[in-house]
Amino acid sequence: MKKPLTLNVNGQDYEVEAESNRLLLQVLRDTLGLTGTKEGCSIGVCGACSVIIDGRLVSSCLTLAAGCAGKKIETIEGLAKDGKLHPLQQAFIEFGGFQCGICTPGQIMAAKALLDENPKPSEEEVKDWMSGNLCRCTGYYKILESVMAVVNDKIDPEFAFRKREQTAKIQSLDVYKSVAKTS
Ligand code: FES
Ligand code: FES
Repeated sequence: MKKPLTLNVNGQDYEVEAESNRLLLQVLRDTLGLTGTKEGCSIGVCGACSVIIDGRLVSSCLTLAAGCAGKKIETIEGLAKDGKLHPLQQAFIEFGGFQCGICTPGQIMAAKALLDENPKPSEEEVKDWMSGNLCRCTGYYKILESVMAVVNDKIDPEFAFRKREQTAKIQSLDVYKSVAKTS
């Protein structure tokens, strides 16, 4: 049986109806349309579904939505402010911290939870903290480099997201054309 529930996500209250066994991940994605939070393993192992609840990093695939009433839920959608990316989002773009992107929201939320508590972690502390977030693509070094770029203030203050996005698209097109020619 569905019950009414108020969830505070990224500072905004949402009134939803959910069964008592409905997972936070399902409510975020399927009910609220906040599909930035990804589903990977569904059993609390991969970290793709990571969100922050009352300052703590949690796996939303293991969290009942009903238990989140009255708590502050942060998802990847809440990070950019006034059209400006969060430093971690910018760093992941600048330092190539992602490829397919499936694990990326979880990686960024995990890193945010760490930096909120400890803005100057060592590389070893970052590695240790992020060990619960799996990536099938990047080999992890670029993710570490991205997080450390924020820790060490190495991100570009003049960063222009639009320009880099267009460049990336043009590069992908070139790669596509050269593959198409040879096949
Ligand atoms: S989907 Fe939740 S930890 Fe993998
Ligand atoms: S970027 Fe593809 S799984 Fe991490």
